[in-house]
Amino acid sequence: MGLTRREFFFAGMAGGAVAAIGVLIPMTIASDGETVVVAPTTPPDTGTPPTTAPVTTTTMAPEVDASAAMVGFFPSITVTNLADLKDGVPINFDYPQVGQSNILVKMGEPVIGGVGPDEDIVAFSRICTHMGCTVPDYKHEYKVLGPCPCHYTTFDLVHGGVVSMGQATQNLPQVLLSVNDSGDVAADGVFRLVYGYANTLEGSQLVGDNT
Ligand code: FES
Repeated sequence: MGLTRREFFFAGMAGGAVAAIGVLIPMTIASDGETVVVAPTTPPDTGTPPTTAPVTTTTMAPEVDASAAMVGFFPSITVTNLADLKDGVPINFDYPQVGQSNILVKMGEPVIGGVGPDEDIVAFSRICTHMGCTVPDYKHEYKVLGPCPCHYTTFDLVHGGVVSMGQATQNLPQVLLSVNDSGDVAADGVFRLVYGYANTLEGSQLVGDNT
């Protein structure tokens, strides 16, 4: 069974969490799933130590949609509507913090993480993963964001924001998008950390939060 789009975005983080649970607290899983610790059969006392180590077998715990929990912490905001998008004409928007600039663009071809009827709408942070400069220009002829004005890194928006040239070594953070029945395109989360933040949700002010 293939990954859903949301599972794809958060597979790395969720996988890490599941791995940690499996290693660190296997007996917690036992109450929900089924962890069975099989002790070795006590051998007859022959005067020699047993050679069989204890064996632990763990069945799968009930599936937990960790990605849903993570998305739940992000604000969800409407960025645009399908009717207002044209191929190659980007829209800038702040997300998830006020002042964190992102680009949303309809690429004109299916791309990684793309939404909409053509699976071609994506959004990325415009904050360079090298040293945090804002990358201003999207070049539709190459479908890249960049070069960054500081050290010339360019990011490939067809392939998940991967670095296509330059100093940076990390993909751009990608914004998780959704489209509703009215054609509204919403930002629902961010995959990967924005440069300079240890927590994407901690900063000045979340967009849409006027408290
Ligand atoms: S800050 Fe963008 S390449 Fe250095």
